[in-house]
Amino acid sequence: MPKIQAMFVGSLTLILLGLPAFSGLEITKVTVPRWIENGTKTSVVLDCEYSYSTEDRHLVVKWFLNNDPEPIYQWIPELHSRQPSYRLQDRINMSYTIFPSSEFTKYRALKILRPTTDLSGKYTCNVASIADEDSESQWMVIYVLPRKFEFNYTIVTEGSVNFTCEVDGVFPLPVLTVHLRSSSSPLHNAEKMHVQNSSSYYNGVYNVQVFLQLNDDELFPEEHIVECVLFIPGTDIKAKKTLHYFPSTAPKNNGKSPRDSRNHMIIVTGIVVMVVSDVFIKS
Ligand SMILES: *[C@@H]1O[C@H](CO)[C@@H](O)[C@H](O)[C@H]1NC(C)=O
Ligand SMILES: *[C@@H]1O[C@H](CO)[C@@H](O)[C@H](O)[C@H]1NC(C)=O
Ligand SMILES: *[C@@H]1O[C@H](CO)[C@@H](O)[C@H](O)[C@H]1NC(C)=O
Ligand SMILES: *[C@@H]1O[C@H](CO)[C@@H](O)[C@H](O)[C@H]1NC(C)=O
Ligand SMILES: *[C@@H]1O[C@H](CO)[C@@H](O)[C@H](O)[C@H]1NC(C)=O
Repeated sequence: MPKIQAMFVGSLTLILLGLPAFSGLEITKVTVPRWIENGTKTSVVLDCEYSYSTEDRHLVVKWFLNNDPEPIYQWIPELHSRQPSYRLQDRINMSYTIFPSSEFTKYRALKILRPTTDLSGKYTCNVASIADEDSESQWMVIYVLPRKFEFNYTIVTEGSVNFTCEVDGVFPLPVLTVHLRSSSSPLHNAEKMHVQNSSSYYNGVYNVQVFLQLNDDELFPEEHIVECVLFIPGTDIKAKKTLHYFPSTAPKNNGKSPRDSRNHMIIVTGIVVMVVSDVFIKS
């Protein structure tokens, strides 16, 4: 009976693979979405795969969120006990089981329903038995795209300009950086500028403003490119706004006619600032 033989060899392989030398309690894989947009998913699954042996009695599977010492979820297979914390009350699907599964794995994963920013953070899966213990962490960032991202300027005095970059309605706290280079210098020569910032948190989202004051007497008399870069930490989301700045000492129009440009130019006494690009990179 080749079929039975194959089955026998199959289960023997499984037994051999699943039978480590000592207590084999070990997390082998944690699968957590790295980032998701708030309010866009009906559910997400956070899984924690582990290997265990017959030595591993009294298995306890726990999930933690951020630095909260209380687990957000705890499962003790032998006691048929499952407890989501108050934070996950009505936020996880308690009937969800992984497939394929055993009595000691079926409820290890969290199926979070309609994930929102309050569940953003570092998830730690902890698996323990009398003989052994293992932990593994991964971040899941639940982000909100900004409803406003603006880069503009105000003239302080002739020859001195104040650039303001503002992002509003974003989560988590974004990073805003301002880079400056003269147009004749290569791209990689852009200098990251020291900026002043202010931020506030309201209704679960952030507002961040950064300011940079430039004085013409500190700049070469030529066109400068000023960029404000927005980055949402924990994601690959970046956006960029660019202004072209002509110090009052620089020749106006830089040899180009404003009408040649698809972009509008704003001409103010002594300086020309032009919005050239506004890139939103999202993948
Ligand atoms: C996140 O999504 C939920 C559900 O769609 C929504 O109620 C909530 O206002 C959103 N939060 C933010 C900060 O946009
Ligand atoms: C919970 O999961 C079960 C099994 O995967 C599924 O049949 C059910 O529709 C889910 N319930 C909700 C509210 O998502
Ligand atoms: C940018 O600033 C200039 C000068 O301060 C102003 O005229 C213009 O309306 C501003 N643009 C935006 C989009 O706020
Ligand atoms: C720059 O402009 C912003 C917004 O108009 C203002 O709040 C800030 O105080 C200004 N900073 C300087 C150094 O002038
Ligand atoms: C604001 O500036 C402080 C001090 O330089 C810095 O630690 C912080 O990360 C900045 N915040 C933002 C949103 O850039």
